[in-house]
Amino acid sequence: MKNRKVVLVGDGAVGSSFAYSLIQTVKTVEELVIVDLNKERSQGDVWDLQDITPLTSDVTIRIGDYSDAADAGIVVITAGVPRKPGETRLDLVNKNVKILRSIVEPVVASGFNGIFVVSANPVDILTTMTQKISGFPKERVIGTGTFLDKARLNIILGDHFGYKPSELDALVLGEHGDTSFVNFDEAKVNGKRLLDEVEISADLQAQIEAEVRGRGGKIIGNKGATFYGVAYGLATIVRAILENNYKMMVVSAPLTGQYGVSDLYLGTPAVLNSTGVAQVIETELSNRELEKMRHSAAQMQEVIDSIE
Ligand code: LAC
Repeated sequence: MKNRKVVLVGDGAVGSSFAYSLIQTVKTVEELVIVDLNKERSQGDVWDLQDITPLTSDVTIRIGDYSDAADAGIVVITAGVPRKPGETRLDLVNKNVKILRSIVEPVVASGFNGIFVVSANPVDILTTMTQKISGFPKERVIGTGTFLDKARLNIILGDHFGYKPSELDALVLGEHGDTSFVNFDEAKVNGKRLLDEVEISADLQAQIEAEVRGRGGKIIGNKGATFYGVAYGLATIVRAILENNYKMMVVSAPLTGQYGVSDLYLGTPAVLNSTGVAQVIETELSNRELEKMRHSAAQMQEVIDSIE
């Protein structure tokens, strides 16, 4: 297996932006194979992406098919129907599970024995379904999860309280969607407890959570889609795997009893390395936050149980 070969399935706005981010930020990729139904367009994307390689890295970029997964280290799945204005991520579930199955089955049949990274929505459900359909060990399936929500939270907190996003370390947990929640109690600013530095009333906490949950829909309302943030998150996850760098980040990770939740992927901190999810970090939650995590899990499970 060529560990440094990455297969990207889906060359839409997210997939193409991921490829663009990957080539610029991850010098250890040796080959990027793009699989998409629209061969003509993805071939054009390959030529366009190749144009930056003389300035970045000697990565080989080409179009291919599911058989290319046979000796790949990582398969990134972005293919799926994106949300339209006014749609929730859960509205996409049946369509995108069908698309997911049509991808995972042939990839597994190719002999792929690496790590799946999933970003199509609803991402926690599709990540859980990728593990179930593939039968892969849980640690070898990762979803982007609330990576993006955490980034958005730190921007929003910065706007509210006058900090730079890089000064803040506040987590969004649970579903990448309408039941996500902020772990205010553990939030830090410049290494100090945020709630000791600034007053955030219960109402303002609820408002900030709603702003985080609503940010994706707001972007879609203005520009029709979101892709840069999630694409950079995908490239960061792939980098952690390829560079075996034990990076701790919030992703959709396999819960096997943490927070009282099992057999489900949800947004939680995790340590990533060449094996995939090296460790799930069960972050300290108040009783109220634990209830929110379990509510998020129950909602996800209900949708999974309803999948046709
Ligand atoms: C968003 C998509 C990735 O929140 O769900 O932008």
